[in-house]
Amino acid sequence: MTAVAAAALMSGAATTAQAACDEGELVIKFSHVTNTDRHPKGIAATLLMERVNAEMDGKACMEVFPNSTLYNDDQVLEAMLQGDVQLAAPSLSKFEQFTKQFRIFDLPFMFKNIDAVDAFQNSDTGQAMKESMVRRGLLGLAFWHNGVTQISANKPLMSPADAKGLKFRVQPSDVLKANMEALGASPQPMAFSEVYGALQTGVVDGQENTWSNIYGQKFFEVQDGITETNHGVIDYLVVTNVDWWEGLDADVRDQLSTIIAEVTEARNSESFKVNQEAKEAIIAAGGVVRELNAEQRQAWVDAMKPVWEQFVQDVGQDNIDAAQAINE
Ligand code: LMR
Repeated sequence: MTAVAAAALMSGAATTAQAACDEGELVIKFSHVTNTDRHPKGIAATLLMERVNAEMDGKACMEVFPNSTLYNDDQVLEAMLQGDVQLAAPSLSKFEQFTKQFRIFDLPFMFKNIDAVDAFQNSDTGQAMKESMVRRGLLGLAFWHNGVTQISANKPLMSPADAKGLKFRVQPSDVLKANMEALGASPQPMAFSEVYGALQTGVVDGQENTWSNIYGQKFFEVQDGITETNHGVIDYLVVTNVDWWEGLDADVRDQLSTIIAEVTEARNSESFKVNQEAKEAIIAAGGVVRELNAEQRQAWVDAMKPVWEQFVQDVGQDNIDAAQAINE
């Protein structure tokens, strides 16, 4: 990619892969759904693009399509299997059609914080999960962090009973649906790009997400407030098409692997901070954040944690035990 083309791409002026990449360069399209600013995934994807385009110039050229501009998460894995996009980083809850292994990340209150998630992902069990969909044509290259989730609605939520009877948008995961049902609420799976409109028009009453997503999508503007439950996790799998990956020249694959690993390490260690800054930005913009005392939080744990029993077969008691041991 020429310097002029790279500058045009970063300013958003270039619209197609062909416009920005030089003849003969391997084109790597990376599609994702979030904003690029104050967002762990958005920042990591941009850094990855910058490094590939600087260090692999002449060999490879990466274009990042954020904000669901190319595909939403419901479409991107199918597009990847068709060879229309080479990299994506959907949340782990979006691989439901391909593997049940990631359900452990959706079980409520499974991990005490993002460091515990990191340790679990970096264990042998976690690393093996990256290859759990190879038979289906998808290979995980890295786990990227976002952070822990909070819950919001069009009315104050202090106790689990406050959520009863409300409709909440959830990601397409059976565990996330069960979590809402445990609260007596109605889960409504929906693409990320549609959530703001659904909250605004009252199609749903609430949603659950990380600070960076609540800030980036401005959900706080159309909600009464956000309750700091820290009840779940949104993390990502940087994923590619097995055939495409294996068809790369070994030197290209190695260099790309190294850059992805370095970007992962650099950005995962910043994800907590990025989310805290997003939380501050929500408050600064007039959003209401409600904190829970220990007793109030325990009521949410008691209401949601029984969901573990429904999914123990899918995720394995040994994996649950390993996650709990990390929390200690
Ligand atoms: C969501 O759909 O709420 C998130 O998975 C979006 C994202 O990529 O963080």
